[in-house]
Amino acid sequence: MRLAKFLATAGVASRRASEEIVRAGRVSVDGETVIDPARDVGSGDEVTVDGQPLSSAAPRRIVYALNKPAGVVSTARDPQGRPTVVTMVPQTERLYPVGRLDIDTTGLILLTNQGELAHRLTHPSFEVEKTYRAVLGGPALHERALRSLREGVELEDGRTSPAHVRRVSADTLEITIHEGRKRQVKRMCEAVGHPVRRLERVRFGPLELGELRQGRWRKLTEAEIEALMAASGS
Ligand code: URA
Repeated sequence: MRLAKFLATAGVASRRASEEIVRAGRVSVDGETVIDPARDVGSGDEVTVDGQPLSSAAPRRIVYALNKPAGVVSTARDPQGRPTVVTMVPQTERLYPVGRLDIDTTGLILLTNQGELAHRLTHPSFEVEKTYRAVLGGPALHERALRSLREGVELEDGRTSPAHVRRVSADTLEITIHEGRKRQVKRMCEAVGHPVRRLERVRFGPLELGELRQGRWRKLTEAEIEALMAASGS
């Protein structure tokens, strides 16, 4: 396997970032500094990064996409004993939910064994876009409300950034935001006079919820993980 891929697979960094790490002379193979990211390595080779050994048995990076049902909390543990997203996927090792969805929100949530990736994907400075499908209550939806959501609305913790808003039907919008404030979509819609009756996340960065049914999960492919890492600036 190429050295850069070996590092990426071991969870050191994305493939591209791993190439840079190699070129910077930070990697050695069997005690010898290697600056060629394409150098072939195998499980018998002793690979170190900044002098730290990387076991070939290092946990592979895993990212699950789960369609969270309502009634499930998105923290790893719940003091009240409610079901958590972590219990809905295979638990062979410690998993970190990537960000939060409210207990009554359904849709795409990611879980990963890579704590650093989970952190980056939710950190506001990386501005990963998330798209929500919101079924709204209140009076008939007017263009005025959509315009306000697009321009940003004043909330108690400050004005929201401009959002992409697409009308899906008479009472349903798709709203794309890149901030991750608590109950943000619900508060934005309430602020323009429309309480949210149902909320589903349908996209996280480059990933779509697609046909994944509620309560079901799938493992992301290496290419999808790479795309996610790129979206988080890794
Ligand atoms: N915005 C909300 O209001 N709730 C969520 O669960 C996610 C985004």
